[in-house]
Amino acid sequence: MGIGCWSYGGGDYWGDQAQSDVDAVANTALDAGIVFFDTAVGYNEGRSEQSLGIALKHRRQEALIGTKTGDTNPATLPDQLEGSLRRLQTDYIDLYMIHWPNPKYPVDEVFDALSQLKTEGKIRAIGVCNFGCQQLSEMIAIGAQIETNQLCYNLLSRAIELEIVPLCQQHQIGILAYMPLLQGILADRFKTLEEIPPQQSRFRHFRPDREMSRHDEAGAEAELWQTLEQIRQICREKDLPMSRLAIAWVMAKSAVSCVLVGTRNTAELAQNLEAVNYAMPADLVKKLDQLTLPLLHRLGGNADYFWATRTT
Ligand SMILES: NC(=O)c1ccc[n+]([C@@H]2O[C@H](COP(=O)([O-])OP(=O)(O)OC[C@H]3O[C@@H](n4cnc5c(N)ncnc54)[C@H](OP(=O)(O)O)[C@@H]3O)[C@@H](O)[C@H]2O)c1
Repeated sequence: MGIGCWSYGGGDYWGDQAQSDVDAVANTALDAGIVFFDTAVGYNEGRSEQSLGIALKHRRQEALIGTKTGDTNPATLPDQLEGSLRRLQTDYIDLYMIHWPNPKYPVDEVFDALSQLKTEGKIRAIGVCNFGCQQLSEMIAIGAQIETNQLCYNLLSRAIELEIVPLCQQHQIGILAYMPLLQGILADRFKTLEEIPPQQSRFRHFRPDREMSRHDEAGAEAELWQTLEQIRQICREKDLPMSRLAIAWVMAKSAVSCVLVGTRNTAELAQNLEAVNYAMPADLVKKLDQLTLPLLHRLGGNADYFWATRTT
Protein backbone atom coordinates (compact mmCIF):
# COMPACT_ATOMS: atom_id res chain seq x y z
CA MET A 1 0.00 0.00 0.00
CA GLY A 2 1.09 3.55 -0.74
CA ILE A 3 -0.25 6.85 0.50
CA GLY A 4 -2.26 8.95 -1.98
CA CYS A 5 -1.50 12.60 -1.27
CA TRP A 6 -3.94 14.41 -3.57
CA SER A 7 -5.70 16.21 -0.68
CA TYR A 8 -2.47 17.44 0.90
CA GLY A 9 -2.06 21.19 0.94
CA GLY A 10 -5.86 21.56 0.80
CA GLY A 11 -7.92 22.90 -2.07
CA ASP A 12 -11.29 23.08 -3.76
CA TYR A 13 -11.56 19.38 -4.53
CA TRP A 14 -10.87 17.83 -1.12
CA GLY A 15 -11.29 20.85 1.17
CA ASP A 16 -8.98 21.80 4.03
CA GLN A 17 -6.14 19.50 5.02
CA ALA A 18 -4.16 20.20 8.20
CA GLN A 19 -0.37 19.90 7.91
CA SER A 20 -0.35 18.26 11.37
CA ASP A 21 -2.45 15.40 9.94
CA VAL A 22 -0.11 15.04 6.94
CA ASP A 23 2.91 14.92 9.28
CA ALA A 24 1.21 12.32 11.46
CA VAL A 25 0.18 10.14 8.50
CA ALA A 26 3.69 10.26 7.01
CA ASN A 27 5.38 9.30 10.27
CA THR A 28 2.87 6.60 11.19
CA ALA A 29 2.98 5.15 7.69
CA LEU A 30 6.79 4.99 7.65
CA ASP A 31 6.79 3.39 11.11
CA ALA A 32 4.38 0.77 9.76
CA GLY A 33 6.55 0.05 6.69
CA ILE A 34 4.38 1.97 4.20
CA VAL A 35 7.02 3.84 2.22
CA PHE A 36 5.49 5.02 -1.07
CA PHE A 37 3.91 8.48 -1.26
CA ASP A 38 2.09 9.57 -4.42
CA THR A 39 1.73 13.23 -5.29
CA ALA A 40 1.69 15.50 -8.39
CA VAL A 41 2.45 19.08 -9.29
CA GLY A 42 -1.21 19.29 -10.32
CA TYR A 43 -2.51 18.49 -6.83
CA ASN A 44 -3.60 21.78 -5.29
CA GLU A 45 -1.25 23.81 -7.48
CA GLY A 46 1.89 22.31 -6.02
CA ARG A 47 0.77 22.49 -2.39
CA SER A 48 0.48 18.70 -2.13
CA GLU A 49 4.16 18.37 -3.01
CA GLN A 50 5.00 21.19 -0.61
CA SER A 51 3.06 19.62 2.23
CA LEU A 52 4.56 16.17 1.63
CA GLY A 53 8.03 17.75 1.50
CA ILE A 54 7.49 19.24 4.96
CA ALA A 55 6.19 15.94 6.33
CA LEU A 56 9.09 13.87 4.97
CA LYS A 57 11.83 16.42 5.56
CA HIS A 58 13.56 14.47 8.34
CA ARG A 59 12.82 10.98 6.96
CA ARG A 60 13.42 11.43 3.21
CA GLN A 61 15.79 8.46 2.96
CA GLU A 62 13.16 6.07 4.33
CA ALA A 63 10.52 7.12 1.79
CA LEU A 64 9.88 6.56 -1.90
CA ILE A 65 8.32 9.61 -3.54
CA GLY A 66 6.32 9.42 -6.73
CA THR A 67 5.30 12.66 -8.40
CA LYS A 68 3.86 13.59 -11.79
CA THR A 69 3.81 16.32 -14.36
CA GLY A 70 1.02 17.07 -16.80
CA ASP A 71 3.23 19.33 -18.90
CA THR A 72 5.38 17.02 -21.00
CA ASN A 73 7.00 19.65 -23.20
CA PRO A 74 10.52 18.18 -23.57
CA ALA A 75 12.05 21.66 -23.51
CA THR A 76 10.54 22.58 -20.15
CA LEU A 77 10.53 19.16 -18.42
CA PRO A 78 13.80 19.96 -16.58
CA ASP A 79 12.20 23.13 -15.15
CA GLN A 80 9.06 21.20 -14.22
CA LEU A 81 11.16 18.71 -12.32
CA GLU A 82 13.21 21.42 -10.58
CA GLY A 83 9.94 22.89 -9.27
CA SER A 84 8.90 19.52 -7.84
CA LEU A 85 12.32 18.97 -6.26
CA ARG A 86 12.17 22.40 -4.64
CA ARG A 87 8.64 21.93 -3.27
CA LEU A 88 9.44 18.42 -2.04
CA GLN A 89 12.72 19.62 -0.44
CA THR A 90 14.69 16.82 -2.05
CA ASP A 91 17.30 16.38 -4.78
CA TYR A 92 15.82 13.26 -6.36
CA ILE A 93 12.42 11.76 -7.20
CA ASP A 94 12.08 7.99 -6.94
CA LEU A 95 9.36 7.68 -9.58
CA TYR A 96 8.63 10.52 -12.01
CA MET A 97 5.42 10.08 -13.96
CA ILE A 98 3.53 11.57 -16.89
CA HIS A 99 0.15 12.42 -15.34
CA TRP A 100 -2.06 11.95 -18.42
CA PRO A 101 -1.21 11.07 -22.03
CA ASN A 102 -0.43 14.22 -23.97
CA PRO A 103 -0.47 13.83 -27.77
CA LYS A 104 1.02 17.32 -28.21
CA TYR A 105 4.66 16.17 -28.05
CA PRO A 106 6.39 13.24 -29.86
CA VAL A 107 6.81 10.34 -27.43
CA ASP A 108 10.46 9.76 -28.35
CA GLU A 109 11.35 13.38 -27.52
CA VAL A 110 9.46 13.22 -24.23
CA PHE A 111 11.12 9.96 -23.30
CA ASP A 112 14.58 11.28 -24.25
CA ALA A 113 14.06 14.29 -21.98
CA LEU A 114 12.98 12.04 -19.11
CA SER A 115 15.93 9.70 -19.72
CA GLN A 116 18.29 12.65 -19.51
CA LEU A 117 16.88 13.53 -16.07
CA LYS A 118 17.41 9.92 -15.04
CA THR A 119 21.01 9.96 -16.29
CA GLU A 120 21.58 13.09 -14.20
CA GLY A 121 20.33 11.19 -11.14
CA LYS A 122 17.43 13.55 -10.54
CA ILE A 123 14.86 10.83 -11.08
CA ARG A 124 15.34 7.13 -10.35
CA ALA A 125 12.57 5.66 -12.49
CA ILE A 126 10.11 6.75 -15.16
CA GLY A 127 6.40 5.98 -15.04
CA VAL A 128 3.18 6.92 -16.80
CA CYS A 129 -0.42 7.27 -15.66
CA ASN A 130 -3.68 6.59 -17.44
CA PHE A 131 -1.96 5.10 -20.50
CA GLY A 132 -4.11 2.76 -22.57
CA CYS A 133 -2.83 0.05 -24.93
CA GLN A 134 -2.31 2.39 -27.86
CA GLN A 135 -0.36 4.91 -25.79
CA LEU A 136 1.68 2.19 -24.08
CA SER A 137 2.41 0.54 -27.42
CA GLU A 138 3.84 3.80 -28.74
CA MET A 139 6.22 3.91 -25.79
CA ILE A 140 7.13 0.25 -26.12
CA ALA A 141 7.77 0.69 -29.86
CA ILE A 142 10.50 3.27 -29.22
CA GLY A 143 12.11 1.02 -26.57
CA ALA A 144 11.16 3.32 -23.67
CA GLN A 145 11.83 1.79 -20.28
CA ILE A 146 8.60 2.50 -18.43
CA GLU A 147 8.51 1.02 -14.93
CA THR A 148 4.88 1.67 -13.97
CA ASN A 149 1.45 2.63 -15.26
CA GLN A 150 -0.84 4.26 -12.68
CA LEU A 151 -4.52 3.58 -13.30
CA CYS A 152 -7.96 3.70 -11.72
CA TYR A 153 -8.75 0.27 -10.31
CA ASN A 154 -11.35 -0.78 -7.78
CA LEU A 155 -14.31 -3.15 -7.41
CA LEU A 156 -16.51 -0.79 -9.41
CA SER A 157 -13.92 0.23 -12.03
CA ARG A 158 -12.25 -2.86 -13.49
CA ALA A 159 -11.66 -1.76 -17.09
CA ILE A 160 -7.89 -2.25 -16.92
CA GLU A 161 -8.28 -6.01 -16.50
CA LEU A 162 -9.47 -6.46 -20.08
CA GLU A 163 -6.47 -5.29 -22.12
CA ILE A 164 -4.17 -2.94 -20.24
CA VAL A 165 -3.10 -5.33 -17.45
CA PRO A 166 -2.14 -8.13 -19.89
CA LEU A 167 -0.04 -5.70 -21.95
CA CYS A 168 1.65 -4.29 -18.83
CA GLN A 169 2.39 -7.79 -17.55
CA GLN A 170 3.85 -8.81 -20.90
CA HIS A 171 6.28 -5.88 -20.70
CA GLN A 172 6.99 -6.01 -16.94
CA ILE A 173 5.30 -2.68 -16.32
CA GLY A 174 4.06 -2.47 -12.72
CA ILE A 175 0.50 -1.35 -12.01
CA LEU A 176 -0.10 1.35 -9.40
CA ALA A 177 -3.83 1.20 -8.63
CA TYR A 178 -5.47 4.51 -7.74
CA MET A 179 -8.89 5.30 -6.23
CA PRO A 180 -9.36 1.89 -4.53
CA LEU A 181 -12.29 3.42 -2.61
CA LEU A 182 -13.70 5.25 -5.63
CA GLN A 183 -13.13 8.38 -3.55
CA GLY A 184 -15.25 7.24 -0.62
CA ILE A 185 -18.08 5.47 -2.49
CA LEU A 186 -16.46 2.13 -1.59
CA ALA A 187 -16.08 3.27 2.01
CA ASP A 188 -19.89 3.12 2.26
CA ARG A 189 -20.07 6.87 2.75
CA PHE A 190 -23.33 7.42 0.90
CA LYS A 191 -26.75 5.98 1.60
CA THR A 192 -28.36 7.02 -1.69
CA LEU A 193 -27.06 7.69 -5.20
CA GLU A 194 -28.35 11.25 -5.14
CA GLU A 195 -26.37 12.24 -2.05
CA ILE A 196 -23.05 11.46 -3.77
CA PRO A 197 -21.46 14.90 -4.22
CA PRO A 198 -20.55 16.38 -7.63
CA GLN A 199 -16.84 15.48 -7.39
CA GLN A 200 -17.58 11.79 -6.91
CA SER A 201 -20.54 11.62 -9.30
CA ARG A 202 -18.66 12.92 -12.32
CA PHE A 203 -17.27 9.46 -13.14
CA ARG A 204 -18.56 7.44 -16.09
CA HIS A 205 -20.61 5.35 -13.65
CA PHE A 206 -23.00 8.31 -13.35
CA ARG A 207 -25.40 10.15 -15.67
CA PRO A 208 -23.74 12.83 -17.81
CA ASP A 209 -26.05 15.54 -16.43
CA ARG A 210 -24.39 15.29 -13.00
CA GLU A 211 -22.96 18.68 -12.03
CA MET A 212 -19.25 18.13 -12.66
CA SER A 213 -19.57 15.44 -15.33
CA ARG A 214 -17.07 15.59 -18.20
CA HIS A 215 -18.29 12.62 -20.24
CA ASP A 216 -21.28 12.11 -22.52
CA GLU A 217 -22.11 8.46 -21.89
CA ALA A 218 -25.32 7.13 -20.38
CA GLY A 219 -23.74 6.06 -17.08
CA ALA A 220 -24.71 2.91 -15.21
CA GLU A 221 -26.32 4.15 -12.02
CA ALA A 222 -28.76 1.26 -11.60
CA GLU A 223 -26.00 -1.35 -12.00
CA LEU A 224 -23.69 0.66 -9.76
CA TRP A 225 -26.22 0.80 -6.93
CA GLN A 226 -27.18 -2.85 -7.31
CA THR A 227 -23.51 -3.85 -7.14
CA LEU A 228 -22.92 -1.65 -4.10
CA GLU A 229 -25.92 -3.22 -2.33
CA GLN A 230 -24.48 -6.67 -2.94
CA ILE A 231 -21.07 -5.58 -1.61
CA ARG A 232 -22.81 -4.06 1.44
CA GLN A 233 -24.56 -7.37 2.09
CA ILE A 234 -21.25 -9.26 2.01
CA CYS A 235 -19.71 -6.74 4.41
CA ARG A 236 -22.60 -7.31 6.83
CA GLU A 237 -22.27 -11.10 6.56
CA LYS A 238 -18.49 -11.04 7.07
CA ASP A 239 -18.59 -8.18 9.58
CA LEU A 240 -16.02 -6.23 7.56
CA PRO A 241 -15.92 -2.48 6.93
CA MET A 242 -16.42 -1.83 3.22
CA SER A 243 -13.17 0.16 2.99
CA ARG A 244 -11.20 -2.87 4.20
CA LEU A 245 -12.94 -5.20 1.79
CA ALA A 246 -12.38 -2.82 -1.14
CA ILE A 247 -8.68 -2.23 -0.45
CA ALA A 248 -7.99 -5.89 0.32
CA TRP A 249 -9.63 -6.95 -2.96
CA VAL A 250 -7.26 -4.72 -4.95
CA MET A 251 -4.30 -5.96 -2.89
CA ALA A 252 -5.30 -9.57 -3.64
CA LYS A 253 -4.73 -8.97 -7.37
CA SER A 254 -1.27 -10.16 -8.37
CA ALA A 255 -1.07 -7.69 -11.26
CA VAL A 256 -1.07 -4.77 -8.81
CA SER A 257 2.33 -3.62 -7.51
CA CYS A 258 0.94 -1.01 -5.17
CA VAL A 259 -2.49 0.30 -4.17
CA LEU A 260 -2.65 4.04 -3.53
CA VAL A 261 -5.14 5.04 -0.87
CA GLY A 262 -6.01 8.69 -0.30
CA THR A 263 -5.28 8.92 3.42
CA ARG A 264 -6.15 12.16 5.23
CA ASN A 265 -5.52 11.32 8.86
CA THR A 266 -4.16 8.61 11.15
CA ALA A 267 -7.65 7.29 11.93
CA GLU A 268 -8.10 6.41 8.24
CA LEU A 269 -4.55 5.09 8.08
CA ALA A 270 -5.17 2.79 11.06
CA GLN A 271 -8.25 1.37 9.34
CA ASN A 272 -6.45 0.96 6.04
CA LEU A 273 -3.55 -0.84 7.70
CA GLU A 274 -6.12 -3.42 8.79
CA ALA A 275 -6.67 -4.08 5.09
CA VAL A 276 -2.94 -4.63 4.59
CA ASN A 277 -3.02 -7.24 7.33
CA TYR A 278 -6.14 -8.93 5.99
CA ALA A 279 -5.40 -11.57 3.37
CA MET A 280 -8.68 -11.98 1.55
CA PRO A 281 -9.66 -15.63 1.10
CA ALA A 282 -9.59 -16.74 -2.54
CA ASP A 283 -13.29 -17.69 -2.54
CA LEU A 284 -14.24 -14.18 -1.42
CA VAL A 285 -12.06 -12.62 -4.16
CA LYS A 286 -13.86 -14.85 -6.65
CA LYS A 287 -17.29 -13.96 -5.30
CA LEU A 288 -16.52 -10.24 -5.57
CA ASP A 289 -15.12 -10.76 -9.08
CA GLN A 290 -18.42 -12.40 -10.07
CA LEU A 291 -20.77 -9.88 -8.59
CA THR A 292 -18.93 -6.86 -10.04
CA LEU A 293 -18.74 -8.40 -13.52
CA PRO A 294 -22.06 -6.99 -14.86
CA LEU A 295 -20.88 -3.45 -14.05
CA LEU A 296 -17.53 -4.12 -15.72
CA HIS A 297 -19.33 -5.32 -18.86
CA ARG A 298 -21.66 -2.34 -18.80
CA LEU A 299 -18.86 0.24 -18.50
CA GLY A 300 -16.47 -1.65 -20.80
CA GLY A 301 -12.71 -1.55 -21.29
CA ASN A 302 -12.20 2.22 -21.28
CA ALA A 303 -10.00 2.93 -18.26
CA ASP A 304 -10.63 6.69 -18.35
CA TYR A 305 -13.43 7.06 -15.82
CA PHE A 306 -13.15 10.87 -15.76
CA TRP A 307 -13.29 12.16 -19.35
CA ALA A 308 -13.83 8.91 -21.30
CA THR A 309 -11.50 10.04 -24.06
CA ARG A 310 -7.98 10.50 -22.75
CA THR A 311 -6.90 6.87 -22.22
CA THR A 312 -6.76 5.00 -25.51
N1 LIG B 1 -2.76 9.41 -11.73
C1 LIG B 1 -3.99 9.86 -11.63
O1 LIG B 1 -4.56 10.36 -12.61
C2 LIG B 1 -4.70 9.77 -10.32
C3 LIG B 1 -6.08 10.01 -10.25
C4 LIG B 1 -6.70 9.88 -9.01
C5 LIG B 1 -5.96 9.56 -7.88
N2 LIG B 1 -4.62 9.35 -7.98
C6 LIG B 1 -3.79 9.03 -6.80
O2 LIG B 1 -4.39 7.98 -6.09
C7 LIG B 1 -4.63 8.37 -4.74
C8 LIG B 1 -5.85 7.68 -4.22
O3 LIG B 1 -7.02 8.07 -4.94
P1 LIG B 1 -8.07 9.09 -4.32
O4 LIG B 1 -7.50 9.74 -3.13
O5 LIG B 1 -8.57 9.95 -5.40
O6 LIG B 1 -9.29 8.13 -3.95
P2 LIG B 1 -9.48 6.94 -2.90
O7 LIG B 1 -8.18 6.50 -2.36
O8 LIG B 1 -10.35 5.95 -3.54
O9 LIG B 1 -10.34 7.67 -1.79
C9 LIG B 1 -9.76 8.61 -0.92
C10 LIG B 1 -10.78 9.08 0.08
O10 LIG B 1 -11.37 7.97 0.74
C11 LIG B 1 -11.62 8.31 2.08
N3 LIG B 1 -11.00 7.30 2.96
C12 LIG B 1 -9.73 6.87 3.01
N4 LIG B 1 -9.59 5.89 3.92
C13 LIG B 1 -10.82 5.71 4.46
C14 LIG B 1 -11.33 4.84 5.44
N5 LIG B 1 -10.57 3.97 6.08
N6 LIG B 1 -12.64 4.93 5.74
C15 LIG B 1 -13.46 5.81 5.13
N7 LIG B 1 -13.02 6.66 4.18
C16 LIG B 1 -11.72 6.60 3.85
C17 LIG B 1 -11.05 9.69 2.34
O11 LIG B 1 -12.15 10.57 2.31
P3 LIG B 1 -12.28 11.89 3.19
O12 LIG B 1 -11.78 12.96 2.30
O13 LIG B 1 -13.75 12.03 3.42
O14 LIG B 1 -11.48 11.72 4.43
C18 LIG B 1 -10.13 9.90 1.18
O15 LIG B 1 -10.00 11.22 0.82
C19 LIG B 1 -4.72 9.91 -4.81
O16 LIG B 1 -4.53 10.52 -3.55
C20 LIG B 1 -3.63 10.20 -5.81
O17 LIG B 1 -2.38 10.13 -5.17
C21 LIG B 1 -3.99 9.43 -9.18
